[in-house]
Amino acid sequence: MATTVITGIGELTTNDDALGTLADAALVLDGDRVAWVGTAANAPDADERIDVAGRAVLPGWVDSHTHLIFAGDRTAEFAARMAGRPYQAGGIAVTVDATRAATDEELAANLRAHLDEAAAQGTTCAETKTGYGLTVADELRSAKLAAAEADEVTFLGAHLVPPGTDADSYVDLVCGEMLDAVAPHVGWCDVFCEHGAFDAEQSRRVLEAAKARGLGLRVHGNQLRQGPGVQLAVELGAASVDHCTYLSESDVDALAGSETVATLLPACDLSTRQPLPDARALLEAGATVALASNCNPGSSYTSSMAYCVTTAVLQMRMTVEEAVRAATLGGAKALRRDSGEGAVGVLREGARADVHVLDAPSTTWLAYRPGVPLTHAVWRKGRRIR
Ligand code: NIG
Repeated sequence: MATTVITGIGELTTNDDALGTLADAALVLDGDRVAWVGTAANAPDADERIDVAGRAVLPGWVDSHTHLIFAGDRTAEFAARMAGRPYQAGGIAVTVDATRAATDEELAANLRAHLDEAAAQGTTCAETKTGYGLTVADELRSAKLAAAEADEVTFLGAHLVPPGTDADSYVDLVCGEMLDAVAPHVGWCDVFCEHGAFDAEQSRRVLEAAKARGLGLRVHGNQLRQGPGVQLAVELGAASVDHCTYLSESDVDALAGSETVATLLPACDLSTRQPLPDARALLEAGATVALASNCNPGSSYTSSMAYCVTTAVLQMRMTVEEAVRAATLGGAKALRRDSGEGAVGVLREGARADVHVLDAPSTTWLAYRPGVPLTHAVWRKGRRIR
């Protein structure tokens, strides 16, 4: 198998505790794995040599929260929001109608286009969710289409109670026939635990039914107000609780004392005119923080992880190092892919060869030059895709 040495790296962010951040570094890729990391002067020979002329290199972004099985767009809803209307999760039903009406080919092409758009900006590992189908047949087809393309797939049948349906009967359907159909195609189950969507008891039922089928858990929680999402996620050992916009002190303490990652979605908070989450409180308490795009047509229509990092630094008082780590290793932890052979979000021997080269001398430029596209080159599983 061909090997490649990437040399002339001005700043190499490895996210590996022993390696740290290296200057004048090099990286060897062998097939789909990282084979060697160290200083350029000590780099072994390889079949191909690429000199990145002092640029910064980091692991590819790990986007642990997207909703990319959808059709249509919600431009009018966005414009109304910018004119002062509040965000209402009920807009999800508009996307549900468009998604049900789309063909498999249309949904697959839309998913592929968004994953390619993200990859061109340095995203090399992405999770995506179902949740715009909300019938057994539509959730099943969403799960199958997602499984063909995304690194990780999450079942979100409990995204919204379909209009005109009794909530408890819908939860019965999700916990029974829908999970039975979808579980073989997904690794995760999520629930939108929020006023107007699913309450604590309904959310618990969905999560326990998923756990009984061997799925990992994640929760949409505390997006629009304080609520039970964070505590439920921690109690049930969810890998992540996503949004975390409105946290009480006991929510922060619960996250800090747990393995549950607090996944922050700043692009969504800006697009829905919500406050930004208190990342500093979480970090200072010792919680693990991830940043993700939440790319979806309603609340956050961006695939740009760089935008999330820039926002986290400029407006959430995260340092560049904290924000970059949250958007790479933090996402990997949220997906439980941060260790062992083929780990993502980290550059060390044996990790997946997912490499992002910036057209910048350091990652600091992600915040220093906000809005400027800085992706120079990207390798995913050892294959150069940009
Ligand atoms: O994470 N909060 C629930 N789900 C999505 C919103 C999806 C939509 O508005 O279409 C979110 O923001």
